[in-house]
Amino acid sequence: MQVILRQLGDCNIRRAEPSDLIPVMEINLKTLPEHYSDYFYESLLAEIPEAFIVAEISGKHVGYIMCKTEYGFSNFKKLGFVKKGHVVSIAVLDEYRKKGIGKALVEESVNGVKLKKCDEFYLEVRCSNNDAVRLYEKLGFVIRQKLNAYYRDGEDAYLMAIELN
Ligand code: ACO
Ligand code: ZN
Repeated sequence: MQVILRQLGDCNIRRAEPSDLIPVMEINLKTLPEHYSDYFYESLLAEIPEAFIVAEISGKHVGYIMCKTEYGFSNFKKLGFVKKGHVVSIAVLDEYRKKGIGKALVEESVNGVKLKKCDEFYLEVRCSNNDAVRLYEKLGFVIRQKLNAYYRDGEDAYLMAIELN
């Protein structure tokens, strides 16, 4: 059963299902240099469907966000061991950007990782990716670390994180 989380004009924001994975992979191939195996997409959907979300406009997939959960050291508290949500990847097709779809995807994934009782939510983003960094900052994420040469091409990442609840 499709779970529609939110409607933005003609755009449905809803939880992904197995049949959404191929269109999600296609958006990923068009928009980002980091790609993943089919199995990895399937495993994220199986692990945390609450935070694997797609944006669809009259049957066309235009965006997605997918996440996982981890246990690890807090990005905020000294010596704290916490449950963390991790945004693995988010993208919106170029021609559908700047309409609020990215913001809706992140907000709904925050709700999803809260349902999984995560204490914090984090992600890595290219330091040069101003659009994405600004989006995350507007939603309350803060830069907690710079990860040197994090990407295969040598670019640095910012680790950005938010405390939940
Ligand atoms: N009219 C005009 N402007 C609007 C409207 C509107 N109706 N709605 C929102 N906007 C503005 C927002 O205010 C925001 O403005 P700002 O950039 O000046 O702050 C801007 O549009 C973007 O916000 P959204 O529309 O919510 O986000 P968008 O749908 O454009 O998606 C994203 C952002 C996902 C980063 C997109 O640019 C993208 O797919 N980029 C390529 C892939 C990418 O870099 N992904 C992130 C990698 S990091 C990772 O995956 C963890
Ligand atoms: Zn990551």
